[in-house]
Amino acid sequence: MVILGIETSCDETSCGVVRLEKGNLKLLSNVVSSSSYLHSKTGGIIPEIAAREQVRDIFPVIKKALSDCGLSFPSPSIDAIAVTVGPGLIGSLLVGVETAKTLSLLLNKPLIPVNHLLGHIYANFISQSSIVNGQLSNVPQFPAIGLIVSGGHTDLILMRGHGNIKRIGGTRDDAAGEAFDKIGRMLGLPYPSGPIIEKLARLASARQAKDGDPKRFIFPRPMMDSPNFDFSFSGLKTSVYRKVKDAKLSESDITNICAGVQEAIVDVLTSKTIKAAQKYNVKSILLGGGVAANQALTENFIRQLGGSNFKLGTKLFVPPKSLCTDNGAMIAACGFFNSKTVSFEKVDANPSLYF
Ligand code: KG4
Ligand code: ZN
Repeated sequence: MVILGIETSCDETSCGVVRLEKGNLKLLSNVVSSSSYLHSKTGGIIPEIAAREQVRDIFPVIKKALSDCGLSFPSPSIDAIAVTVGPGLIGSLLVGVETAKTLSLLLNKPLIPVNHLLGHIYANFISQSSIVNGQLSNVPQFPAIGLIVSGGHTDLILMRGHGNIKRIGGTRDDAAGEAFDKIGRMLGLPYPSGPIIEKLARLASARQAKDGDPKRFIFPRPMMDSPNFDFSFSGLKTSVYRKVKDAKLSESDITNICAGVQEAIVDVLTSKTIKAAQKYNVKSILLGGGVAANQALTENFIRQLGGSNFKLGTKLFVPPKSLCTDNGAMIAACGFFNSKTVSFEKVDANPSLYF
């Protein structure tokens, strides 16, 4: 069984191919072309530009993903085509959806519509991708808690099995990635700022002995102790704004602010997710989305899960960085495990799709 996954929900055009081998889903190829360099100057995505880049890149990306695993274009050796139908930017989504529909019709292959958010979690079901406390591991076991942390969403889901998913909480305002990006913008950092804030935070720690102090800026951890699984990051953004407004910041102030911001976001995400894992007594915690690429987040989870007050024996799964940010392989994996094929006339892009 070989599945081709197409992802075009935002500013990445991606195609991935996965195959079922000896009971495991193996990654055959994953090609990503990003237009984020065009948006970095404007501090955020311009939907019209993102959509135009999708149109330009979609066929070369699909062709490369197929040729990377020795298949020709269009390939009859594909068993099904999975595509992101939402949520996302309508212009970007339409490019992937209409391309997938056309391929499905021409090649006479089943078409599987995929929710992008769930796709992020399924990056953990690609066998090579998962790590458990730093080591390669098998497929995640249910029940599981999924933490989706992307640029537009922060959600906690309870998964009792494939297709048995319940959202138990999420952000009430900004998403975690959005907080990284908006705070980065305040600090004069380019978009997307998450990976840059991570680097600068690491620099703050490295400088600690010399002239840095990563604990100099302590920011609030909104809703960390609230009796639910919701998040809020807009207060953190305001708190940083108050600190940076009219201030003359040195280079070391900026790195220290990055350290403080990252620590606050990581603390809240880890604490709420582990609380949910304890409440539902789950076997696995699955991270997904661009913010899951943050090494400090993984390290904090490993620290907290290894702590003496955590007795669940829950395993942590984090995809490799290349499968945390938007990619076609995760869409193919999600399509494989949730393979409700739909006739191509009934598949439509849905920018506000949710759980
Ligand atoms: O999942 P994703 O690629 O796209 C969406 O579906 O939104 O996530 C992009 C988000 C951006 O906000 C970006 O700043 C953030 O993920 N991000 C990170 C890191 N890498 C990407 N945030 C923190 N640390 C990182 N290393
Ligand atoms: Zn995403």
